[in-house]
Amino acid sequence: MTNAPPAAAGSASPLDVTAIRRDFPILRQQVHGTRLVYLDNASTTQKPQTVIDRVARFYLEENANVHRGVHWLSERATDAYEEARATVARFLNARTPQEIVFVRGTTEAVNLVAATYGRTHVGRDDEIVISAMEHHSNIVPWQILCEQAGARLKIIPTTDTGELDLDAYASLLRDCTRIVSVVHVSNVLGTVNPVGEVVRLAHRRGIPVFVDGAQAAAHMPIDVQAIGCDFYACSGHKMFGPTGIGVLYGTSDRLESMPPYQGGGDMIRSVTFEHTAYASAPHRFEAGTPHIAGAVGLAAAIDYLDAIGLDRIAAHEHDLLRAVTDAVARIPGVRIFGTAADKAAVLSFVLEGVHPHDIGTILDREGVAIRAGHHCCQPLMDRLGVPATARASLALYNTVEDIDRLSAALQTARGLFA
Ligand SMILES: Cc1ncc(COP(=O)(O)O)c(C=O)c1O
Repeated sequence: MTNAPPAAAGSASPLDVTAIRRDFPILRQQVHGTRLVYLDNASTTQKPQTVIDRVARFYLEENANVHRGVHWLSERATDAYEEARATVARFLNARTPQEIVFVRGTTEAVNLVAATYGRTHVGRDDEIVISAMEHHSNIVPWQILCEQAGARLKIIPTTDTGELDLDAYASLLRDCTRIVSVVHVSNVLGTVNPVGEVVRLAHRRGIPVFVDGAQAAAHMPIDVQAIGCDFYACSGHKMFGPTGIGVLYGTSDRLESMPPYQGGGDMIRSVTFEHTAYASAPHRFEAGTPHIAGAVGLAAAIDYLDAIGLDRIAAHEHDLLRAVTDAVARIPGVRIFGTAADKAAVLSFVLEGVHPHDIGTILDREGVAIRAGHHCCQPLMDRLGVPATARASLALYNTVEDIDRLSAALQTARGLFA
């Protein structure tokens, strides 16, 4: 089995979506007797054949534990794992691979920083700043930390267009602010937050910034040095890679100053019953056998994205966003949430008289997969004044025909409830 380049590699702009779709075997499936239209990419993305093949090749030819054996296979597995780390570092433009910690996903990355940076830097009456559009995974770990430390959570409000209120943000930054944690791209509103500006304002006061990049990493070029953040997190499964693998980027200074997250094998320099000396970052934060095949598969996903080009992917998705917004807005009774000037291809909406879950069920019968619910953003739902929304989220393999199918299915849903 070879790790063949994607069918779409090297083609001129715009994207050859027909070729790209051929790279994703799952998209050939029929659902309820009709071609699958997959518009739930913010939940998870589908996997190209190269990623599937790369994971299979790992188990077929390279499987062994890493950093432990002196034997040939273990060296191959270790090389593949550490090469994957270098690939992620290049993708995010980290300074070195040592700034990349493999974790289970964005959720674990936030928990890791809250537990380690938080434990050592956050105390009674300190404050942590997050925004009103955060996913629960960027709320609850900080809440747990606040409960333990006696600290307070401060919330950056959003405007009616679904953008961060930067004036309000600036006024929240105080001497007792210990960290700011904001989402790069909202999984409900699609808003692309000005994270560089968020960092600049925080750094003026010496406050570190964590950026949740779960919805950004596969949809636009990411440069952590240009953003200037202290931490950045993303999830492999939302980037066309495997589930159970994700990335925490942290600057070397920050990571080296943090205590371990979990204890166990692979994160130590030496152990006696009296004392343990910890390994340096990133291994200090990777206790136990890691998800080696996941890391290798994630690197294959990154190679796939790089071969196509993140700029071209972003341009394609921008066109799709415009088309889906126009199509959905034309349906009578639709209300769209999130009209930020800088927006990714995520469209949340409600349809008058039809519960979002009913929209999701009716669309499914038409072969169109979307998500309905609170999207793990209950505080944002409260701000929007709705318990749930329907959400279509698009990716590089979606087409205008997919949008036509969504639109037709929504008309069907409307007709059923009229
Ligand atoms: C903005 C955002 N942050 C964090 C997460 C959590 O990602 P994971 O479940 O991969 O840890 C999600 C998942 O939907 C998300 O959309």
